Amino acid sequence: MVVKNIAVLFSGSGSNLQAILEKIHNKIFNGVKIKVALLICNNPNAKGIKRAKKFGLETIVINHRDYDSREEFDQALVDEIKKHDIDLSVLAGFMRILTPVFTDNIKAINLHPSILPLFKGANAINESYNSDMKIGGVSVHWVSSQLDSGEIIAQKSFARKHKSLKEWEEKIHKIEHKLLPKTIIEILAKGK
Ligand code: GRF
Repeated sequence: MVVKNIAVLFSGSGSNLQAILEKIHNKIFNGVKIKVALLICNNPNAKGIKRAKKFGLETIVINHRDYDSREEFDQALVDEIKKHDIDLSVLAGFMRILTPVFTDNIKAINLHPSILPLFKGANAINESYNSDMKIGGVSVHWVSSQLDSGEIIAQKSFARKHKSLKEWEEKIHKIEHKLLPKTIIEILAKGK
């Protein structure tokens, strides 16, 4: 049995981490078993840490506040990931800007709550909602040294019939929880 190990990096609520754990962790796709082998969080108070515990998984906390520079923090992430036999790292709500120390050394994908290349950065949900776009959406892309700019792997859009910001946000998360696990399967088990 081929086993592919993933690392999941997160910062907060961890609902996407939970979707990964529910939908693909220790499951077999196309003869490939996908295993969440490493969890890293930069925020010791993140709700995601508790969610992971419910699945019997411990999270390694690497707090960015303990490091003097982005590069030193990134090196700590790289060192941890390299200790494990990781095939793919998944940024699932990991709210740190990464330097080439990370991006040149780690094969990673990122989840972003907009139709890239529109609305890069940390306020994508609000900015897309407040725009006059008739659609919103979600992207998964390869991580590169430019924020939210690596090659797009998957996107899913929805029509603007969601009136409130809350509905807009809920729709985005609902799509994210399907699109990210599906994309991981496609990369690791279908060779896309
Ligand atoms: C998601 O909307 C993701 O696109 C963004 O941060 C959010 C993380 O949510 N980068 P959660 O922590 O997975 O619940």
